Amino acid sequence: MSEPKKLYIKTYGCQMNVYDSERMSETLGGQGYVETQSPDDADMILLNTCHIREKAAEKVYSELGRFKGLKAEKPDLKIGVAGCVAQAEGEEIMRRQPLVDLVVGPQSYHRLPEMEAKTRTGARALDTDFPEEDKFEKLKNRPKAKRGPTAFLTVQEGCDKFCAFCVVPYTRGAEVSRPADRIIREAQDLVERGVREITLLGQNVNAYHGAGVNGDMTLAGLIWELNKVDGLERIRFTTSHPNDMADDLIEAHGTCEKLMPYLHLPVQSGSDRILKRMNRSHTAESYLRLIERIRAARPDIVMSGDFIVGFPEETEEDFQATMDLVEEVKYGYAYSFKYSTRPGTPAAERPQVDPEAADNRLQRLQALITQHQREIQDAMVGRKVRVLFEKPGRLPGQMVGKSEYLHSVHVSEADVAVGELRDVQITGSGANSLAGALF
Ligand code: 5AD
Ligand code: SF4
Repeated sequence: MSEPKKLYIKTYGCQMNVYDSERMSETLGGQGYVETQSPDDADMILLNTCHIREKAAEKVYSELGRFKGLKAEKPDLKIGVAGCVAQAEGEEIMRRQPLVDLVVGPQSYHRLPEMEAKTRTGARALDTDFPEEDKFEKLKNRPKAKRGPTAFLTVQEGCDKFCAFCVVPYTRGAEVSRPADRIIREAQDLVERGVREITLLGQNVNAYHGAGVNGDMTLAGLIWELNKVDGLERIRFTTSHPNDMADDLIEAHGTCEKLMPYLHLPVQSGSDRILKRMNRSHTAESYLRLIERIRAARPDIVMSGDFIVGFPEETEEDFQATMDLVEEVKYGYAYSFKYSTRPGTPAAERPQVDPEAADNRLQRLQALITQHQREIQDAMVGRKVRVLFEKPGRLPGQMVGKSEYLHSVHVSEADVAVGELRDVQITGSGANSLAGALF
């Protein structure tokens, strides 16, 4: 038997890319590839790229340049670019970087086997279409390998919201939901392979409206179906848009026992003037009232969010409105970014904020968020939480897992296995994690 070919995948960016990399690895598994952790012994290198940060494309070119020596030593080595940079600049990549054999957009991963075969004939392969078929269904034929206790499952892709700063509607295309039965089958399969917690993924996940048995299903409907899957213990979802936070989803947070009390609900800014310019179609007030309703349904829910500071024309007063909103919500987690231009998006053409002012605002916002994050984490001390154990910790005998609120919890001398769910008494709060003892 011939040696298996080796595949090295480097993943950038969001959880959606992590999920896609797993699917690409599985589909290339069907072509005789096994994954390797090092590019040096790879027969194929795939960069699964992200377009969300500034100069993303430039970073991809410099990363590709680093493989030049490797390719000279090993002419059979195939180099591919996948993900959002591939989608946005596929043809340009082919033109600018002759090292690249294959460029595949996020909607075309199921075509990788044919594309790989094409590269083996010495040709180059490019596919950045937005086909109609369900690529995940086509990616399905994979070995039943054991999995860790947590997994991502993509239920929806793309976005129709067109926030003025964002490239997603251009790179991932229009909003498309996968049919519910396929998602449920995939969840059952994950559970058979050891998964206990599933995070449903989508760029605009709560806009989910996939086909169900009785017409289209909402995200809440899908969550209730998954709630029935034996052996699945926890359900999460990300990322949501405030305008798609439907009543049934809010209600599910109060009544669906497997749905975890954690919600990532980006607001981006606390200033109505800026929200309008961002094309967010909600106000600070409507967002705050929404959180009130979510907290009425599930009082202990931990909120998380995303913020952009220094959006074009943001004044100090606008920024103060963001600080006020953060003060009111008190996020358990939040991600804040300095605005950076994405060519082709409406905001790229507008007058930019002084970079130093933006840096200063980002620091102030992050300090406030960190303070709240710490307060919420510290308030867990003395409480009993339920932990899904994911892996051994750094110290001998230590095990690490996540609470229902997504806090990392470590327990010493813990006689528990990976994948077990146990009650834990929280005894201490550190910089990024909680310490606890089995109950
Ligand atoms: N500049 C800065 N941050 C951005 N994000 C998206 N586009 C930009 C941009 N042009 C942030 C938003 C989004 C998160 C995933 O990334 O906060 O919610
Ligand atoms: Fe981008 Fe999210 Fe806005 Fe869609 S809702 S355009 S993914 S920021």
